[in-house]
Amino acid sequence: MSKTQALRHASRFLSSSLPRVTPAVHAAARPAAYRSRNISSTPVRRDDKKHDAGSTSSAPGESGAHEGQFARTDESVRVEYPEEADLPRSQPVQGRGGSHHKRTLATFSLEDRVAVVTGGARGLGLVMSQAMVLSGADVAIVDLNKEEATRQAEQLMQSFRDENPGEEKRVPQVTAHYADVSSPDSVNSAISEILADHGKIDNLVTSAGFTENFNAIDYPHDRMQKLWGVNVDGTYLFAIGVAKHLMERKSPGSIIFIGSMSGAIVNVPQPQAPYNAAKAAVRHLASSLAVEWAHAGIRVNCISPGYMLTSLTKKILDDNPELQRKWTSLIPQGKMGRPEDLMGAVTFLASDASGYVTGADLRVDGGYTVT
Ligand SMILES: NC(=O)c1ccc[n+]([C@@H]2O[C@H](COP(=O)([O-])OP(=O)(O)OC[C@H]3O[C@@H](n4cnc5c(N)ncnc54)[C@H](O)[C@@H]3O)[C@@H](O)[C@H]2O)c1
Repeated sequence: MSKTQALRHASRFLSSSLPRVTPAVHAAARPAAYRSRNISSTPVRRDDKKHDAGSTSSAPGESGAHEGQFARTDESVRVEYPEEADLPRSQPVQGRGGSHHKRTLATFSLEDRVAVVTGGARGLGLVMSQAMVLSGADVAIVDLNKEEATRQAEQLMQSFRDENPGEEKRVPQVTAHYADVSSPDSVNSAISEILADHGKIDNLVTSAGFTENFNAIDYPHDRMQKLWGVNVDGTYLFAIGVAKHLMERKSPGSIIFIGSMSGAIVNVPQPQAPYNAAKAAVRHLASSLAVEWAHAGIRVNCISPGYMLTSLTKKILDDNPELQRKWTSLIPQGKMGRPEDLMGAVTFLASDASGYVTGADLRVDGGYTVT
């Protein structure tokens, strides 16, 4: 239940549990705790002058301007993304979650697996690609920005060489491929290219996606279609392409969708209804495909990150410190997530360690969605 739902339920419960009495005896008949506060389940209009901050009116059904203040969207809040050319580059994680020689469960290893990561040239997709390489997989990075994907693929292989001198034969194969995940033709040709380079696919991580902020009533229809096209169609198209390959090969596999906590709660204050609905679709698509493909040994799960501090979100929040304050005030752990907080989650779900986990939604959100 969301915070707003909970408040509404509490309000309804309290108003329905009050004794029905005439106005003359109303205050005296109430338990002491209720006397100072009027409770009503009637929504209050925000443009009603009587409810301005500082109003001292206490007529039944009225409330202070603070009520609901932190649980509403605000049409004036719009997170502006930098132009493609001004986007900061993501850097691979160093020294936090990398190679080590400590004992761990063998079932977490991705040795001999081939993983595809869409949207892997930057941000969360890049860090999850790195997690899979460090866990033993070969990786195909798929992105609209092939140039950046190529640069990062080379960097991941170079990091392995630097950290494992003399192990040239074991250097993971990391390749870069162009695709617009919202286009069936583009997805199919990327999958053919990956199969030509790697020979097979065992894991898929769908991280290509984006968000933007508009009031629902002002959302340009073509942009809404694009948003759903990348976040929902893109996830679906890649998943069915990889599942067909796994079924033809008669091989088990694990598919991981990157949803968002926005698929379970409504973020505030920025308005983003279509994104929230798209991520809810992604989460339920994972459950639905998990059931449909269980017979073939294909597991499908969803990771729903909370607010993560990538180089892109860092740039946006550096320009909007007030927004950062609002976001972190709602996170029980009191801080935004680091991209590397997803490294363990993706490795677990891709590996045999999660062999009996399918159709699940793993929230990595610092506790945001449980309050
Ligand atoms: N960053 C967060 O706080 C956060 C939180 C929850 C969920 N998510 C989700 O995680 C995923 C990754 O987010 P991010 O913050 O790393 O974003 P990002 O913008 O840093 O990276 C997204 C990558 O996807 C690529 N991409 C975009 N459209 C594409 C398309 N049509 N075809 C192929 N590639 C495309 C971009 O070129 C980019 O490299 C998204 O699905 C996002 O909704 C992010």
